[in-house]
Amino acid sequence: MSEDAPAVAVPPVTITLKPAGPIIIEGPVRILNNAGDEVEPPPSKIPGQIKLCGCGFTKTRPFCDGSHKR
Ligand code: FES
Repeated sequence: MSEDAPAVAVPPVTITLKPAGPIIIEGPVRILNNAGDEVEPPPSKIPGQIKLCGCGFTKTRPFCDGSHKR
């Protein structure tokens, strides 16, 4: 970045761990696979929110598919 570029406020990323449930990420993040390619998260009810599976039961790794509720 150039020193002449205006400062841009970047909102903080918030990561919330739910017990036996998803890891909720809110903020501007990119998720990359092992090859370095960006992985598109599934649509979310809350724009900008990504839920990663924290229980290990999802069928749509790395994203939560609601399997933790069953
Ligand atoms: S946390 Fe939701 S499916 Fe694993």
